[in-house]
Amino acid sequence: MAIRQIKNVAVIGSGAMGHQIAMLCVLGGFETHLQDIEEQALNQARDTLEGHMANWVKKGKITEQKKDEAFARLHLTTKMKDAVKDVDLVIEAVVEKLDVKQEVFSKLDKLVSGHTILATNSSTIVNSKLAEVTSRPEKVLNMHFFYPPLVMDCVEVVMSEQTSKETAQTALDFCERIGRTGILLEKEIYGFIANRLLFAISKEALYLYEEGYADFKDIDLITKKALKHPIGPFELMDLSGIDVGYYGNLQLYQETGDPKDKPAKSVEKKVRAGILGRKTGKGWYDYSTGGK
Ligand SMILES: NC(=O)c1ccc[n+]([C@@H]2O[C@H](COP(=O)([O-])OP(=O)(O)OC[C@H]3O[C@@H](n4cnc5c(N)ncnc54)[C@H](O)[C@@H]3O)[C@@H](O)[C@H]2O)c1
Repeated sequence: MAIRQIKNVAVIGSGAMGHQIAMLCVLGGFETHLQDIEEQALNQARDTLEGHMANWVKKGKITEQKKDEAFARLHLTTKMKDAVKDVDLVIEAVVEKLDVKQEVFSKLDKLVSGHTILATNSSTIVNSKLAEVTSRPEKVLNMHFFYPPLVMDCVEVVMSEQTSKETAQTALDFCERIGRTGILLEKEIYGFIANRLLFAISKEALYLYEEGYADFKDIDLITKKALKHPIGPFELMDLSGIDVGYYGNLQLYQETGDPKDKPAKSVEKKVRAGILGRKTGKGWYDYSTGGK
């Protein structure tokens, strides 16, 4: 199916990612149905998006009329059956649990028409694991947006061995239509590209710190000064949640069994102690007195 045939889109899951992905779709001109099992998540989505768009109008990023037109294309529902009626593309953004996603994909496969593309926004689950519960593996792929989607201009479009070139191209064209840069991965790999690069840097930083080569603050400093990164690896762990990285790492270790993939001891110690970064007021740095 080519991009010109895509008119109606459904986004399944209206959490941190889903509601903003849906907004990008309506801003791109697509009729979009946003579905969540929780009514509350949908109400919150509408409130949050209205706030964001009011800001955009204030800043001159969008006109009042374009904003109203976009909202007129956004339809919210708790019923999957209503959300996916006549859609050409589904972007799934429900919780990061394989069994939940497989159940969603299995249902979607039965509800949508034969031509419909099914994409997952998962950060860690490769699409072949979801394609296996459908009858359309050639129309299944990852479209991995970055948080927050309304700000971050990048989507990793990941093909499995069975994803067709046409499906991948349509996803890339779709990214362009919603103002996002699509990056193609022609083969599946755990963590895709951006998170693998981040992981490699963070792993090396933790090695240097744990082996006593340098203090973590100095490792952050050199990352910013010499490599021109806006934020150091330890600051980033604090920002995204030390536990988030730890559990992602643990999942990788469980999959590969490779001792090299084992989470760092210093990270494990912090997670056990509930020292999880900015959200708990303390991580690598102390935020309890209003920041480091
Ligand atoms: N948060 C991030 O930084 C980020 C970045 C990129 C990708 N992702 C991926 O996006 C997906 C969603 O993450 P999130 O952070 O938005 O999660 P979230 O927990 O904020 O939202 C998930 C939403 O899915 C809903 N949900 C659960 N089961 C459902 C079902 N069966 N049908 C419909 N809705 C259901 C929940 O009610 C919730 O509102 C995950 O796969 C995650 O890996 C997250």
